[in-house]
Amino acid sequence: MKLLTTCLALLALLEYVSAQTWYFLTFTTPAGAYISAYSGSFVAPPLPEAATYYLWPGLQPPDNAGVLQGVLDGRSGEWWIGDGYCCSNPSLAWGSGFNVPNGQTVDFSFSVDSIQDGTWGTTLSSSGGGAATGSFPLPTHPMNQAIMAIELYGVAWTFGQFAFSDVVIVANTTSTAWCTGGPYNYENAAVVSLSTPVATVSGGQTTCKIASIILVEPA
Ligand SMILES: *[C@@H]1O[C@H](CO)[C@@H](O)[C@H](O)[C@H]1NC(C)=O
Repeated sequence: MKLLTTCLALLALLEYVSAQTWYFLTFTTPAGAYISAYSGSFVAPPLPEAATYYLWPGLQPPDNAGVLQGVLDGRSGEWWIGDGYCCSNPSLAWGSGFNVPNGQTVDFSFSVDSIQDGTWGTTLSSSGGGAATGSFPLPTHPMNQAIMAIELYGVAWTFGQFAFSDVVIVANTTSTAWCTGGPYNYENAAVVSLSTPVATVSGGQTTCKIASIILVEPA
């Protein structure tokens, strides 16, 4: 649940020291435009063992001060998911959550009441009946990056695909290339299967819809 550092050299060093491995996709809005909502669904893959598997959708501001994220956490040996803002600036309590059996679908949403000075409302629910809501006041942290991440410590990506569906990202811009161009794939580390992103512009906002976006396997 560490935030994605801006310093990739440091990241490489951290990987070496702690056997930390990242795979992530990022949709980044144009400069001066921000995300007001991000939602979708994903399937919890089979958890191989109790270990630090963090799989998550999340949002990050331009200065990468932290990550608002819904983290599927494998440390106990059974997936648990909760929303939180990692890791400081501001320090906020982690939200409530629930266990997710392998193969269950989780719906997530993040939405803010005011881009610049807002409080993010979060929801999580599972096909098995789990549900949690959260509220994260994050003024001065407008979000410009919508992320899908696999974050691993001391374990490898052996669990198969991490599949998202019905992803929707709303941003206050009339430009659409940030959506239709597809996500940035960190170090091309993941094989990605993506349906064509569809951008709709209305009222000064772009709604970006991706029916299916799958982190398939390590590249
Ligand atoms: C998006 O909203 C922020 C916060 O209200 C504002 O500062 C910015 O100018 C807006 N960007 C665009 C492109 O409308």
